[in-house]
Amino acid sequence: MSKKLTKFSSLAITTALWLAAIPGGAQQVSSRSQQTAAPKVAQRQTSQFAQDPWWKHAVIYEIYPRSFQDSNGDGVGDINGIASRLDYLHDLGIGAIWITPMYPSPLVDFGYDVADYAAIDPLYGTLEDFDHLMAEAKKRNIRVIMDLVPNHTSDQHPWFKESRSSRTNSKRDWYIWRDGKAPGQPPNNWQSWFGHSAWQFDSATNQYYYHHFYTEQPDLNWRNPEVRKAMYDAMRFWLDRGVAGFRLDAVSRLFEDPNLHDDPILPGKNAYGDPNIAHKYTDNLPEIHEVLREMRRLVDAYPGNPVLISEADEPNIAELTKMYGRKNDEIQLPMDFQIADVNKLSAPDFRKLFDEVDRNAAHGHPHFFFSNHDQPRQWDRYGDGVHNDQIAKLMAALLLTTRATPLMYYGEEIGMRTTPPVRKEDVQDPIGEIGWPEEKGRDGERTPMQWDNTKDAGFSSADHPWLPIPPSAAEYNVSVESSDPHSILSFYKRLLALRRSEPALRNGTYAALDRDDAHVFAYLRKNPAKGDSILVALNMSAEPRTVKLDLSALGLKANSAKTLVAAPQIGNGSVSFTHFVIPPFGVFVGSVH
Ligand code: BGC
Ligand code: MG
Repeated sequence: MSKKLTKFSSLAITTALWLAAIPGGAQQVSSRSQQTAAPKVAQRQTSQFAQDPWWKHAVIYEIYPRSFQDSNGDGVGDINGIASRLDYLHDLGIGAIWITPMYPSPLVDFGYDVADYAAIDPLYGTLEDFDHLMAEAKKRNIRVIMDLVPNHTSDQHPWFKESRSSRTNSKRDWYIWRDGKAPGQPPNNWQSWFGHSAWQFDSATNQYYYHHFYTEQPDLNWRNPEVRKAMYDAMRFWLDRGVAGFRLDAVSRLFEDPNLHDDPILPGKNAYGDPNIAHKYTDNLPEIHEVLREMRRLVDAYPGNPVLISEADEPNIAELTKMYGRKNDEIQLPMDFQIADVNKLSAPDFRKLFDEVDRNAAHGHPHFFFSNHDQPRQWDRYGDGVHNDQIAKLMAALLLTTRATPLMYYGEEIGMRTTPPVRKEDVQDPIGEIGWPEEKGRDGERTPMQWDNTKDAGFSSADHPWLPIPPSAAEYNVSVESSDPHSILSFYKRLLALRRSEPALRNGTYAALDRDDAHVFAYLRKNPAKGDSILVALNMSAEPRTVKLDLSALGLKANSAKTLVAAPQIGNGSVSFTHFVIPPFGVFVGSVH
């Protein structure tokens, strides 16, 4: 993985979840002696889950629409394709899908360059198709989250076309226009995330405009109230159609220092050959929080608890915590990029970060993910090249057994790997052209979903899908893995089912066990009521490890656990804490009483 991708991946988001440990809330009543109390408790359990906003318990699944399912044979995925796969997502146990942008776009950044915020690009379908998708998703209890791109538009958006037309145009101030420092020199040293100066000279009016990303993605001026109003109108447009919230793209980049201070230069160069700089004056300016509060008030006015997910690469827990807002009045789910970017199987590193976010000062709900459309897939980042299938299962358990709302990226449930282009001429993502060969772009993690062994892995009937089908598709696909009880997919399904059925996985508190173990990451999801708690033990090393667990400090007397899910097989229906050996990269999830 290139350095640039690691850096890029730090564009992230997060959210807060209250500790849902309401006494009695998750109590499971099964024993005869408790029968009389059952109706009351059952009621309480239901009502507590009903009180919890859906986004605390739903598993969210990211769909890159170009690559999920093509319904019309043009080699590019589309809305009707997604609709045709809803049963698959429902069977998997997905509660919400986040679809990356489908707005009309020149597709320089494959949709993150928006030319109209209130329409659908014909490549993906029509608004009618979208409404149909919404209705079909609703039937299956799957919510739909839109990707909102508030930081910048396409340079082909009518707003920008107007803005660039003259210095006196009424939309001039909707973007960031400045004079150069001197003839031929940009206003300052700010750099684009995608390489080189962030300023583009426009000869029509002899000024520069600012673009944090591609030249074709001019930044909006969020200090202009009309810009805010226009973006909030776009949010209402989709909320009125029933969407369940927004993933806010690059939301920490909304404001830039009005005094245009130069960013500090750091040692070394990046993949584009530019000096490394700290984006001190273009990232995380305090004003973003006022906007986040406005957005939160806007979504809160709608029924059904719409969610805001932030993509903001926060460097530490203090910054991440700020995203929840001082009164929990900003982002509900800030994506935790620190955890996504651990990039090695390290029990101490995960333990430290899990502890930190679990105790965040805002009492915000954690939001974990390991893969997305901007960084190499977890298969490659965590796999050791030998035990990758097993490690994929371990990562599944890490994602699906914590208190955090899990965010999955399409294909991770079948062990899709990163398949970057081999030749520069095959690159689709422009950063792969700018940065070749060090930065190959993001095509590798955006290859088509692997459904079966038919043409194009069942993704499309086109002779040339927009990205090639990886060779691994023959072995790693939904159809093959569905009929193999030991497959990665079957493992995901078991864990997803457990997440729904076990109260402790929904509402249990989190506590790390055996804090000094360098290889095994073990934790307890303690049931706040009388029911079973869940023990998770993950061996993050290539050697068998023996653990000694003592749950007494957590108020449990148990010295054994009943196996619920394990890979490979561990124990015979149960394990004893006095002789608990976990095989290389082994996963154990069991119940303790
Ligand atoms: C998105 C990227 C996109 C960038 C610019 C990111 O945060 O996830 O895919 O290129 O924003 O919109
Ligand atoms: Mg900006």
